[in-house]
Parts: sequence; structure tokens; C-alpha cells
Amino acid sequence: MTSQTPSRRPRSRARRRLGSSVRLLAALALAGFLYTAFAPGLAAQDQPLSPTAAEGEELYQRNCISCHGRNADGVEDRGPSLVGVGEAAVEFQVSTGRMPMTRQEAQAQAKPPKWQGEELERNVAALSAYIQELGGGPQMPAGTDLAESAEGAVARGGELYRINCSSCHAYSGGGGALSSGASAPSLAEATDRQIYAAMLSGPQNMPVFGDNQLTPEEKAEVIAFIQHLQEDGDPGGVFNLGRFGPTTEGLAIFLVGIVAVVFATLWIAGKS
Ligand code: HEC
Ligand code: HEC
Repeated sequence: MTSQTPSRRPRSRARRRLGSSVRLLAALALAGFLYTAFAPGLAAQDQPLSPTAAEGEELYQRNCISCHGRNADGVEDRGPSLVGVGEAAVEFQVSTGRMPMTRQEAQAQAKPPKWQGEELERNVAALSAYIQELGGGPQMPAGTDLAESAEGAVARGGELYRINCSSCHAYSGGGGALSSGASAPSLAEATDRQIYAAMLSGPQNMPVFGDNQLTPEEKAEVIAFIQHLQEDGDPGGVFNLGRFGPTTEGLAIFLVGIVAVVFATLWIAGKS
């Protein structure tokens, strides 16, 4: 009897401790269950991939995994997570040759893509499907001609372009330097789909133009305007003034005028 009393307290304390760790474990298990049930990226992985995405997974493992990680969740100092970037980002990066990146640099550069022609198209579709099914994100419309052709589309697109794009890509679409050593590239070579994908995904220093900022129709008008820039060549011929608009043109006319007046004065002075 007397020996039981001292041993009783430790035992009940131990039982109490056991009880609280069981409760803690139960809470953790519940949290884990809720997380897997509701986190979209993780839940998506449980579903089998479509055949196209499965092909993309294989390509991914051969060409992208070293920088973007096993589940595309990123590798520190190598590459960002691709969960949720969507097929638009993949199409942009792979079709412009920026990805797979070949060496670490501050800004991925456009270069001749790793694949060409039909193989490029097929691999872009496969990689896009894989990243899309893995984590969701902005999706591309179908088709290759994404420009709005309705009357006035080029003019409306031009207005939108001046408000949203010209600060970085210049009025002419010629591109320009940004702060911190980055630069906005020329738009001269961009295809309709690349322009659309760039707006949807906002690569690097470029902002994302989601459908709230520019509706799909407005995007189509911007594309019509950029196409117009690409086709237009240069109305000024060889003497291209950088298309900075009325200021440079006014200045040029002014300078040409002054020089003409000076020569005329000299000529008249020389005659008399
Ligand atoms: C050598 C490392 C490297 C390899 C290989 C590589 N990437 Fe990247 N990737 C990067 C880095 C670094 C960035 C961010 C730099 C940037 O956007 O300029 C990036 C950015 C991206 C983005 C843009 C993400 C966003 O937030 O918009 C996508 C999409 C992408 N990579 C897809 C791929 C795919 C697909 C492959 C394989 C075909 C691949 N990458 C291979 C390093 C790599
Ligand atoms: C804040 C500056 C900024 C603004 C504003 C901006 N961009 Fe960009 N854009 C960039 C940068 C930087 C890149 C290069 C990203 C990279 O290399 O990863 C780029 C790349 C692009 C490309 C890819 C060109 C190619 O062939 O490689 C297109 C197309 C493009 N932008 C279109 C647009 C359009 C259309 C708008 C307006 C709706 C716009 N951008 C607004 C900075 C900007």
C-alpha cells in the first residue's frame, strides 16, 4: 500500500503525456489528409497523365529535371518551380528556344530552339500538357492566327500597345534596355502564339497580362497591331528615325530646314 502511492503519480503523468501525443498525432494526420485532399497540385498527381502528358514527362526528365526538380517544384539556384505556371509559360519558353536553358544566366535568351519543325511542335505540346496536368495555370487558345481581323482592330491594338507595352518594347516594337541589366527583346520575329503566351505568362521582368488586364479580344487586337508593325517595314525607308513619333520627326524636319536655309544664305551671299 505504502509503496504504491509514490509510483502512482509518475504513471498517471506518463499516461497523460501519452494521451496528448496521441491527440497530436491524430491532429497531424487530419491536417495531412486535408492538405492532400485540397492542395490542387498534389491531388492532380494522383490522376494518371494523358498520353501526351506522359510523353511530356519523359521529355521533362531528360531535359528539364536538373534545373526544375523532380516534381517541377524547382531547384535552389538552378531553376524556379513550374507548378502552376501553365502551358502558356512552357510554350513561350520552349518555342522561343529559351528553354531548355544551356547555361546559368541572368535572363534566359531566345535562341534557335533545341528541336525544329514538327518535332518542336510535338514536344512543346507534350511538355505543355505535362506541366498543365501537374499544376494547372494559364492555358493557350487553339490555332496559329490569333490576331483580331475586325475593322479598326489594328488601331485599337495600337492604343493598347502604347499603354501596356511600349514602355519596354518601344513604339516601334524594337525593344530596349531595362534597369538591372535586363532587356526587353525586339518583337520583330515573335509569332502570334508567342505574343499571346508572353502576355499570359509574363516571362522574367515582363508583367503578366491576365484576362482581367487585357481580355482575350484585346490581346487579339494587340497581336494585330504587332503584326502590322512586322509587315509594315519602314515607311521612312533607309532614313528610319527610330519611330519615336512626332518629336523626332519634327526635330528632323527642323534640322533639315535649318541646314537648307544656311546653304541658301551662303549661296546668296556668295553670288553678291
Ligand atoms: C540549366 C537550367 C535549366 C534547364 C535545363 C531548364 N530550365 Fe527552365 N528555367 C531556368 C531558369 C534559371 C529560369 C528562370 C529564368 C528566366 O525566366 O529568365 C527558368 C524558367 C522557366 C520557365 C518560366 C517559369 C515562369 O515562372 O514563367 C519555364 C516554363 C521553364 N523554365 C520550362 C523549362 C522546360 C520545359 C525545360 C526543359 C525542356 C527547362 N525549363 C529546362 C533554368 C533551366
Ligand atoms: C516591364 C517591361 C515590359 C512590358 C511592359 C512588356 N514586356 Fe514583353 N518582355 C519584357 C521582357 C523583359 C521580355 C523578355 C523576357 C525573357 O527573356 O525571359 C519580354 C518578352 C516579350 C516577348 C517575347 C519576344 C521574343 O521573340 O523573344 C513578347 C512577344 C512580348 N514581350 C510582348 C509584350 C506585349 C504584347 C506587351 C504588352 C501587352 C509587353 N510585352 C509588355 C518586358 C516587358
